[in-house]
Amino acid sequence: MSAGRGPKEPGRALGPAVELTSTYHAGGRFIYARDENPTWEALEEVLGALEGGKAVTFASGLAAIAAVIEQLPVGAIVVAPEDAYSGTRRLLSDLASRGRLVVRFVDPTDTARTLGACQGAGLLWIESPTNPLLRIADIAGLAAGAHDAGVPLVVADNTFATPLLQRPLELGVDVVVHSVTKLLSGHSDVILGAAIGRDEGLAQALAQRRSLHGAVPGPLEAWLALRGVRTLGVRLERAQANAAELALRLAAHPAVERVRYPGLPEHPGHELAVKQMRGFGAMVAFEVRGGSEMAEAVCNRVRVCVHATSLGGVETLIERRGKWASEDYLPASLVRLSVGIEDVEDLWADLGGALTALG
Ligand SMILES: Cc1ncc(COP(=O)(O)O)c(C=O)c1O
Repeated sequence: MSAGRGPKEPGRALGPAVELTSTYHAGGRFIYARDENPTWEALEEVLGALEGGKAVTFASGLAAIAAVIEQLPVGAIVVAPEDAYSGTRRLLSDLASRGRLVVRFVDPTDTARTLGACQGAGLLWIESPTNPLLRIADIAGLAAGAHDAGVPLVVADNTFATPLLQRPLELGVDVVVHSVTKLLSGHSDVILGAAIGRDEGLAQALAQRRSLHGAVPGPLEAWLALRGVRTLGVRLERAQANAAELALRLAAHPAVERVRYPGLPEHPGHELAVKQMRGFGAMVAFEVRGGSEMAEAVCNRVRVCVHATSLGGVETLIERRGKWASEDYLPASLVRLSVGIEDVEDLWADLGGALTALG
């Protein structure tokens, strides 16, 4: 893709420079670096092209999420998945506890009920697949139903799928948010976020919010993300193939009680995922027999997989999510696997070996 490369001129670098500056010589288009930076703009060009909208980058995924939610008037009703990313849930709950918003948490897989909760709402938040239960919501059905019910803003967190597997703007949502920290950057070395608006007006409002709040991306982070996103296709292809294979092998392992991967035909959201996604992604969750102790033991025993939080990097990360207070509603033995691009046999020797040794 040529987006974000700048003009093709003899002798010019293939990509943008890291513009490390706080200000610019007076009289030009760039004035002050809390408002604009050419390195961000190059990344925004790429992300906008990938999602099919107008992108605004932020200091983190959560900053992008907060900027979108900030668009709402005080007292607005937000409908959101009960198992949305914990940061989103915590932010919404915090705003609700301080009387800024009213939040209705719903089961996102129940389209009719979710739409029922949308009466009078100012925003419907969609996340699909959800983090970490990998539940699938009907994005097109929810977006159309919410708009019909008069909800002005429908937002989708597309971090798990990436625009290569799912393009929520095409499915009818108004804004897509990303933790660019994850698959888009892909190397576990930056914290960055983005919101991509269906139209210029929404993007401008979000960029204004970014200037007001100051949650701006670092130019170096934007540059790293720009470099990372250029290999998204090959990384995702390999990670996804690994994830599909591990999901199958985990499902057949006697120490594993349940595997959650939308690519498995028995996954409750499988058919919907086939319909709205072009692949099932690189995230797998599974529950081990033997409760939280066994799950922790597996995480501590593996050596190729890295025991760490986060996801979307080239290395496979493993973690028992229920250990976090904000995720104590999860099955205690649920292990989340962010599958990387290693050799799948190395991964299975490591993970399957740990399960067999401990099981
Ligand atoms: C689905 C999802 N959305 C948003 C975020 C927040 O992104 P960041 O950590 O870049 O603020 C995360 C982080 O884990 C996530 O998993």
